[in-house]
Amino acid sequence: MAKTLLVTGGAGFIGSCFVLQARARGERVINLDKLTYAGNPDNLASLVNDPDHILVQGDIGNAELVGLLLSQYKPDAVVNFAAESHVDRSIIDPEAFVRTNVLGTSTLLRVVKNWWQNLDEPARSSFRFLHVSTDEVFGALKPGDPAFCETTPYSPNSPYSASKAASDHLVRAFHETYKLPILITNCSNNYGPRQFPEKLIPLMILNALDGNALPVYGTGSNIRDWLHVEDHCSAIALVLEKGLVGESYNIGGHSERTNLEVVKTICAILQDEVPSPTRYADQITFVEDRPGHDFRYAIDCSKIERELGWKPAHSFDTGLADTVRWYLANEEWIENVRSGAYLDWIDSNYGHRG
Ligand code: NAD
Ligand code: DAU
Repeated sequence: MAKTLLVTGGAGFIGSCFVLQARARGERVINLDKLTYAGNPDNLASLVNDPDHILVQGDIGNAELVGLLLSQYKPDAVVNFAAESHVDRSIIDPEAFVRTNVLGTSTLLRVVKNWWQNLDEPARSSFRFLHVSTDEVFGALKPGDPAFCETTPYSPNSPYSASKAASDHLVRAFHETYKLPILITNCSNNYGPRQFPEKLIPLMILNALDGNALPVYGTGSNIRDWLHVEDHCSAIALVLEKGLVGESYNIGGHSERTNLEVVKTICAILQDEVPSPTRYADQITFVEDRPGHDFRYAIDCSKIERELGWKPAHSFDTGLADTVRWYLANEEWIENVRSGAYLDWIDSNYGHRG
């Protein structure tokens, strides 16, 4: 029988990709999403008449609602994407991150654990709680340091990564204490269609097309390890199916790039797709750095490759060009997300940077 999944945060960038893949596999999805500024039902427009995708607007910290969804739909697994996810916002308003990422995850875990403890076999043994986390919990690498592996000690540097680290610890603790069958994934930077244009890649694409400055923090020499969102979601599905209970799995794309390289590549792709008489690269502007800016992330994903047989399908070069073309082809999606609240954010994050 097809599985039923309770997916949280499934209207966001990565969650919506996972929901679309899950529906393509025939799984029924109950999608609990608060629909914050980052949650966007347009991401799921293709499922609007799908009776096996049920979108419920609500908070993972609402114990009563989570309890109702569990008893009504009896999911085989909970996949927790819901989070405040943007580092720069966490620097301006850390408490929003504690509320959702720490307290919200804690409430979700408690309610799921109470419900799971009363399940009969075999549902009790086969149930899984998969928590989607980030490589940022491991802190920052120097050039030449070995990539993060599953046993790298946690050393988070931003309010965002500290809140994600706290949530990972809670998830692990629910396994050790109550034997809740959990799995944790820690992934590197994602890119692809439907990413909210506060993050580096979509922000640069849209600013370039608008003729605005391309604001590179510091010298642009910070390094991120990029993975296509569809590859991240295929890895999560594999961990859910075959991962060992209580384990964590690192997911990454073997695609380390400096920020300046990424921005210059976007400019070159745009120059081919939408030739401009002035060069897009001339819009690059070095601005005040992010406080506490982690220098480098890199993921050693040999465990998931070796033990579960996962491999990414997209290379960064073709995936990035496809992503640029997606933004060029989806003007309506872009117009809908760039509302008044978006413009306020651009002003508060970049207004003072000069
Ligand atoms: P996103 O900001 O695009 O989406 C987050 C979603 O969670 C939104 O739909 C939002 O409405 C929802 N949400 C927020 N608070 C909620 C709450 N209290 N209750 C219910 N729903 C709530 O984020 P994303 O980039 O899609 O990231 C998803 C998850 O993956 C996060 O947990 C993030 O930490 C993790 N992650 C992201 C990346 C990345 O590069 N974006 C990499 C590794 C891990
Ligand atoms: O590593 C995984 C993480 O990747 C996820 O956990 C986070 O949810 C996700 O937001 C992302 O965090 P980053 O801080 O790495 O992503 P962001 O797109 O905000 O920034 C990428 C790099 O680009 C980073 O070094 C900061 C830089 N940057 C970012 C913005 C928005 C700029 O130089 N200019 C900008 O305007």
